[in-house]
Order: sequence, then structure tokens, then C-alpha cells
Amino acid sequence: MTIAVYPGSFDPIHEGHLDVIKRARQIFDEVVVGVLDNTAKACLFSAEERATLVRQSLGPDSDVQVRHFSGLAVEFAVSQRATVIVRGLRAVSDLDSEFQMALMNRRLEPRVHTVFLTTSFANVYLSSSLIKDVCAHGGGIRGLVPAVVEDALNRRLGRPHQSPAAEEAS
Ligand code: PNS
Repeated sequence: MTIAVYPGSFDPIHEGHLDVIKRARQIFDEVVVGVLDNTAKACLFSAEERATLVRQSLGPDSDVQVRHFSGLAVEFAVSQRATVIVRGLRAVSDLDSEFQMALMNRRLEPRVHTVFLTTSFANVYLSSSLIKDVCAHGGGIRGLVPAVVEDALNRRLGRPHQSPAAEEAS
């Protein structure tokens, strides 16, 4: 039985992340999403809120576990009895930092392997920061994030709630 963890900030989760989780679940017996509780990084949502948004986005039928963690990703992996860390790769530009992290993680804990999954083409340009920026400036983000995340972003960024019909019409 192979358990994989998928660590990240998820501030907030978007369709690209969900795609990686779905693919990971097709490969591994158990997938645990690890939401980094890192006070050094300025996040729009608290770790608790980010984890809740991940759970809500996955839906009630999902068997993917969602936990938040602080400290090293490899230590979180070991605590979950995982031997795999999953990371999504969008483009070659991700590779440099991801490669660095993977090698450092291997040095820290050789029993944990990093597996990269490519995001689907449709999600290649998605990032949480871009989505927050677009939303903060009044751009539409429908379809890039689950509806529950869209609502949370609109509320947190002080944007008036838009019904699907209103957004389609705008
Ligand atoms: O979604 P992100 O922000 O790209 O995820 C980065 C994350 C959480 C995977 C990375 O920052 C991480 O693993 N942080 C935990 C601390 C750690 O293990 N640092 C050493 C990495 S080599």
C-alpha cells in the first residue's frame, strides 16, 4: 500500500490542484493533502480555512484526507506513513525550484520519493496568486476555482457576490 502526501500552501486551492489530487488518487492507495501552516508566509486564508476549502472542494464522497502541518514536508510525510510526496508541474519554469526542493527532501529523508505530476493543459497557467490578483481587481475567476472558493475569495477580498447569471451577463 502506497501513501502519498501532497503538500502545499493552497491559498486557496484551485482547479489545477484538484486535477493533481485526482491524478494522484488514481495512482496511490491513499492521498493526504498537507496544508502548510506557515506563519512566515503571508496567506489570505488561515491554515484552518485553507484546509476547510480543500475539504469542501473535494466534496463529501472523497476519500482524500486533508490535514494541516507545520515544519518539514518530509516529516509530515513520515508522520502520515507516506513514501511519496506529490507535486504538480505546470511548466518548465516550475522545474528549477521543484527540483531543488525534491533533492533537498531526498537528502533529508531518502525513504520519501518526490513524484511530479503534470497539470492538464487547461490549468497550465493557473496559480493561487494570479487568481487572487485577478479577483482583487474585479476580474472573473469562475471555472478556475470551485464555487465555494470563489465565494470565499469574493468575501475575503470584499467583492460583491455575483450570481452565475450576473457573471455570465457581465
Ligand atoms: O504550494 P507551495 O507554496 O508551492 O508549496 C510549497 C511547499 C509547502 C511544498 C514547501 O514550501 C514546503 O515543503 N514547505 C515545508 C517546509 C519544508 O519542508 N521546507 C524544505 C523544502 S525542501
